[in-house]
Amino acid sequence: MVSVAERIQRLKKEKNAVILAHNYTLPEVQDLADYVGDSLGLSMEASKTDADIIVFCGVSFMGETAKILSPNKTVLLPEPDAHCAMAAMCTGDQLRDFKECNPGFLIIGYVNSSAEAKKEMDICCTSSNAVKIVESVKWNDILFVPDKNLGAYASSVTGVNIRLWDGFCPIHQGITVSQVNSLKKKHPRALILAHPECRAEVLELADHVGSTEAILKMSKTLNEKEFIILTEVGMKYRLEKENPGKMFFFPESAVCTTMKMPSPESILRALEHGTGEVILSRDILEKARNPVQKMIDIK
Ligand code: 13P
Ligand code: SF4
Repeated sequence: MVSVAERIQRLKKEKNAVILAHNYTLPEVQDLADYVGDSLGLSMEASKTDADIIVFCGVSFMGETAKILSPNKTVLLPEPDAHCAMAAMCTGDQLRDFKECNPGFLIIGYVNSSAEAKKEMDICCTSSNAVKIVESVKWNDILFVPDKNLGAYASSVTGVNIRLWDGFCPIHQGITVSQVNSLKKKHPRALILAHPECRAEVLELADHVGSTEAILKMSKTLNEKEFIILTEVGMKYRLEKENPGKMFFFPESAVCTTMKMPSPESILRALEHGTGEVILSRDILEKARNPVQKMIDIK
């Protein structure tokens, strides 16, 4: 009997497909992927792959971003109904209204947003380059969407005054000071590494702040053996796998259910039947590419 993993590998070769997976996906999905990483790394991979098909294991905005960067490739989402709750907090219509009422603002948009919203942005960023992008724009009136926490973090690091959209990631926003304090009480020697989607008062307790990939890098280069990790629990798998002998502690409530939706079975279904194809209009593809490409050019 041929296993699901073997069937996936066979189809991948036959169809010249590549599997990309975000750091928060299930361990069995990460094990099947050709590349696992943070949003910036995944965007870069999507922009340079020579595969004909990209199977994107993550939430829908990630598949859309891959399609924006590789419009001539087929992008398949194993779980097309897996959406990011934060991305839904800022729509294209809302941004069009904002621009009408506030001419002259430059809009920096976190990639955790729909293609329809990206179309209205001037430049995108991810959690790993938000500071660099904010520093690069040299503009007086800046609006940062949708994540108020990432925007506030980038503003505090750069000293640039930024107007913040009222969006947030419910998972990171849900991490509280008292949760962090009780983790610290249990693991007093642990270093605290936090994702910038956390609230400002939580970031104040962190020793270092960074994207999921930056957290992974820090876990390897820092000498400490114990870490409290303030981001989604899916990171635990790679952190433990790539750091034998080190220990990682998470707030247990930090679970993004939609990131857990892609499975080996849904990857197989997508590869076998071409389900979950990302389709974007020519207008969206053309206009949304601009802010994403600008980000990639700065990186
Ligand atoms: P990273 O870009 O740090 O991976 O975080 C993105 C994110 O929150 C995906 O949900
Ligand atoms: Fe969106 Fe938060 Fe889930 Fe990331 S963890 S996909 S930002 S809801």
